[in-house]
Amino acid sequence: MQYQFLESDELFTRVKTLTNVAKQAAAAAQKQAKKTEKLIGEIEKPINVPSLPAGFKVDVPQFDVTKRLNKLPRSWDLPQELYKKHLPKYNVGTIYRIQELLNAGEGYIGQTVTVAGWARTVRDQKNLCFIELNDGTSFGGLQIVVEDKIGNFEQVAKTNTGFSLKVTGNIVKSPAKGQLIEMLVADPTKHEVVIIGQADPEEYPMAKGVQKPETLRQKAHLRPRGNFFSAVTRIRNNLAYATHVFFQNNGCLYIHTPIITGSDCEGAGEMFRISTIFDNDISKIPQIKGKVDTAQDFFKKEVNLTVSGQLQVEHFCISMSNVYTFGPTFRAEKAHTHRHLAEFWMIEPEFAFADLFDNMEAAEGYVKFCINYILQNNIDDLQFLDKRVKPGLIDYLKDIVSKDFVRCSYTQGIDILLKAQQAGAKFENSEIKWGMDLNSEHERFIAEKVFQRPVFLYDYPKEIKAFYMKVTDDGKCVRAMDMLIPQVGELIGGSQREERYDVLAQRIKECGLKLEDYGPYMDLRKYGTVPHCGFGLGFERLVMMVTGVENIRDVIPFPRYHGSAEF
Ligand code: 4AD
Ligand code: MG
Repeated sequence: MQYQFLESDELFTRVKTLTNVAKQAAAAAQKQAKKTEKLIGEIEKPINVPSLPAGFKVDVPQFDVTKRLNKLPRSWDLPQELYKKHLPKYNVGTIYRIQELLNAGEGYIGQTVTVAGWARTVRDQKNLCFIELNDGTSFGGLQIVVEDKIGNFEQVAKTNTGFSLKVTGNIVKSPAKGQLIEMLVADPTKHEVVIIGQADPEEYPMAKGVQKPETLRQKAHLRPRGNFFSAVTRIRNNLAYATHVFFQNNGCLYIHTPIITGSDCEGAGEMFRISTIFDNDISKIPQIKGKVDTAQDFFKKEVNLTVSGQLQVEHFCISMSNVYTFGPTFRAEKAHTHRHLAEFWMIEPEFAFADLFDNMEAAEGYVKFCINYILQNNIDDLQFLDKRVKPGLIDYLKDIVSKDFVRCSYTQGIDILLKAQQAGAKFENSEIKWGMDLNSEHERFIAEKVFQRPVFLYDYPKEIKAFYMKVTDDGKCVRAMDMLIPQVGELIGGSQREERYDVLAQRIKECGLKLEDYGPYMDLRKYGTVPHCGFGLGFERLVMMVTGVENIRDVIPFPRYHGSAEF
C-alpha cells in the first residue's frame, strides 16, 4: 500500500472538506428521512367497501334469548331531564358567554353587557366597523357593530381576524338577516372595545378561509379557532360529559384504573415501555449478560403504558357490581389507517351478574344516549358538519337512534359474506372462511351495506380473541361481541368474561401466557366468582361517528400516531 504524506495544512483542509461533505450528506439524509417519515405519517390507505350486489337481501337474524342469564333485559333509558345540560351565564367574572346571549333569543335586548373572545372577521365601512366575535362557547359568533363615536375607533377598524378583544355594548335587535341580535358599541361614556392581543394578518395561520383538515392538523395549537375544529371539540366535550351522565345515572362507579401497568391485557404485545434507566449513552444502561437489568429500573421490573383498564376494572366489579373506567390508552400500533391512534381514550364498563346479551343491551343504550345527547345539545355544530363534512349527518344519527341494533353471530356474519361474495361482492381479502379475523372491509360491509346500522357480531372463534373471554359450551367460540358501525368499522369490543378458574387457567396456558403473571386476576375466580361482562368503546371512534369526520386524527386535540407526536 502506498502512503501519501501531506503537509499538515493540506491535511487539515482535506479533513475539513471531508467533514463538511459528511455533514452535508448526514443533513441531506436526515432531511430525506424526515420527509419520508412525514409521508409515512400521511399515508392512510382508503378502505374500499364493496357495494351490495344487486338484489342481495338478508333478513335481520332472530335473536335467541332462551339462554339468557337474566330473563328480562334491563332498560338503560334515562329520564328526559338528564338530556339537558346546565350552562353558566358568564365565562369569568361578569364576562357573558356568547352562547348565553344567543340562546336567550330577544332576552337581553336593551341590556349593556361585556363579552370577550377572538375576532373571526372584521369589516371596516367608513364610520362603522363590523366584528364577528367568537369565544368558543357556541358555533355562531356575536355580531358587534362599532360606531366611530367610540374613542379608539381608528385602532378598532384596523383590527383583524385573530385579534382578542373585550367589548362592552348594548344588545339590540339585528336588522340583518340570519341573526336575531347584535351588539351596538355606540355610547363613548358606557361602551368600549379593549384590544387585548394582536394577530398579524400576514402571519396568522388561521387567517385564510376554509382549510382542509390535513392542513389544520399541522396547526393543532390554533385549529380550535376555526369552525371545523371548534365544532368537533364542543361535541367531543359533550360526548365525554354524556358518558359520565349515562354511567353515573345507571349506577356505575367511576374507577380510576392505572396508566402504568405490568400486564398486557390484550396479549397483543403492542405496548410502550416506560423506564428511567434508558440513556442515550448505552454504556450507562445497567445490563446483565447483554440484557437490560430491569431490576435496577424505577419499578424494579418491566412496566408499560396501559393498553386497557379492563383487568383492573374487573377487580372492582367483583366487589362493587357495576363500574366503569374512562382513561387514556396506549397502543404501539404502526397502523396508518383512518381509525388508529397510538394514544386514544377508552370507556370500559364492567357489569357483575350479567351475560353477553346484557352487555349488548348496555352498549346499545350507551351509544344511543350519546347520540341523542348531541342531537339535543349541539345542533348548531351538527348543522355545520352536515353541510361541510358529511351531508345527511343529522338524518343518519336520527336513523341510528330510532332502530334496534342488529345482533348477528360471527357464524351468521361469515355466511352473509360468503353469500355476498357468491352474488358478486368483491373483497380485497377474498379468502372468507370460518375462523378468519375479519378485516375492516368485511366489518363495514356488514354494518354499512347489509344492515345499514350498528351491528353486534358475537360468539367469535376463540383462536382470534383474547384469553379472558368465556368459552362457549361447544368449546369452539368465546362469548365476544364487537359493535360494528358504518364508515368506521369496530366501535366497541367486549365480552362475557371467563369466570371458571380451571377453564381460565387452561386458556391462559393455551394463549402462551404465564399463569403466575395473573395472580390477582385468578384470585377473583377463586373467591366469590360471578358471571360478568364488559366492553371497551374507542372514544375517538364515537366522536368520528357523531361528527361524520373520516379521519381519527381530526377528532382528538393532539393526535399521536406512528411517526408523529407533535405539539
Ligand atoms: O377491542 P379492544 O382491543 O378491546 C379491549 O381493549 C377490551 N379490553 C375492552 C373491554 O372489554 N373492556 O378495544 C376496544 C375499542 C375498539 O373497539 C376500538 O374502538 C378502540 O378501542 N381502539 C382504538 N381506537 C383508536 N386507536 C386504536 N389504536 C385503537 N385500538 C382499539
Ligand atoms: Mg377489538
